[in-house]
Amino acid sequence: MAIEVVPLPLPPSADASKFADFGREVKGVKPGELTPEELEEIKELLYKHDALLFRDVDFTPEQQYALTKAFDPSSENYGHGNNKTGETKKSILHPDLKTIPRVPQVQLIGNGTVYNHEGLAEAKLKHPHHKTFHKTAISDEDEEKGATRFYRWHIDAALYDLNPPKVTTLYGLNVPQGTKQVCRYDDGTGDELTVPLGTTAFVSGKTTFDILPPELKSLAVRSKVKYAPHPYVWMAPAHAKSTGLGIETEGLEEALSELPPWEESRLKVLPILWKNPVTGNLHFQVHPCGVMELLVDPLPEGANKEGALYPEGTHITNLGEVRDILYKMQRPAIAPPLVYPHDWHERDLVLFHNRGVLHTVVGAFKPDQVRAFHQCNLAASDEPVGPSPEDVKKWA
Ligand SMILES: [Fe+2]
Repeated sequence: MAIEVVPLPLPPSADASKFADFGREVKGVKPGELTPEELEEIKELLYKHDALLFRDVDFTPEQQYALTKAFDPSSENYGHGNNKTGETKKSILHPDLKTIPRVPQVQLIGNGTVYNHEGLAEAKLKHPHHKTFHKTAISDEDEEKGATRFYRWHIDAALYDLNPPKVTTLYGLNVPQGTKQVCRYDDGTGDELTVPLGTTAFVSGKTTFDILPPELKSLAVRSKVKYAPHPYVWMAPAHAKSTGLGIETEGLEEALSELPPWEESRLKVLPILWKNPVTGNLHFQVHPCGVMELLVDPLPEGANKEGALYPEGTHITNLGEVRDILYKMQRPAIAPPLVYPHDWHERDLVLFHNRGVLHTVVGAFKPDQVRAFHQCNLAASDEPVGPSPEDVKKWA
């Protein structure tokens, strides 16, 4: 049977014109048993559409690891490395991840207590809640009425030493049913988005770039961000913005001298824009919570300097300033019409282009709402590719 693709069902909140290329449901193949030809087709579809959905899938952890690895055959380790080491114990990701013993690259994530699951006698899972991370929180009363927030917009990546994974696979085994929630931005805009309970929300990094005004496109194409050492340990004491898109600047980050041992040479300095290996499009890919510094190249020779930001280039180390600039560039992209909130069904498999989208956990579950997902991504064998000289010439 030939592979068939259909657009993802968009919610009424979405601006369909911005999702013409984003997301496809794939029918007619079993993702655990792809032939080499089918695999090539799926790879191309993923880079073209950034998120692929397969429904009613049977998928073992071994098959999940194999499919994830197929996107980057020489990758091997989970995207965050071995999360059981003492080094990252203080990391804010620590409580969210439980490893499948047989296939340690696959993580069990979700909510509530899961018993006798793939070799785990008992796993206590906790859906991350914004009140543990944001500076402000929704009141219990409003939460009771269904109000919620984006938890943390991110790329799946360690952002220290390891390279950002190319693809993440998410397989929903237990999906609690419940009424829709209203995701509030609480940033003074009045923005809000109705979402399915426990959705995973996605935005396109390509759209993030496409909608920027020319002066910010020019800045983006010339810039790199430098991530903190052990960013998830560094950010752990700090509080996030109410939109989940970055950290409030309060000086709460762990001091660099207090972090687990780190080396300058292992820090990640990555371009803001990552080039899609199939389409050549530029995707704005920044994990705003982990960024420490911004490095801007000067305008290329012959570029129009009028209205240009930092025409001579700059290196910004003031954390507040760095965050303000990134927020200005990224906030437009999480506006309600640009968010795809996936409505999970049991046995859904979603593959997403981790170098082409940002995503976040959303919503809140009660302890008795048991949710179990398998997640896999692998630290990549190479760094993302930034803009080409032609791209810089075109956009700077
Ligand atoms: Fe993630």
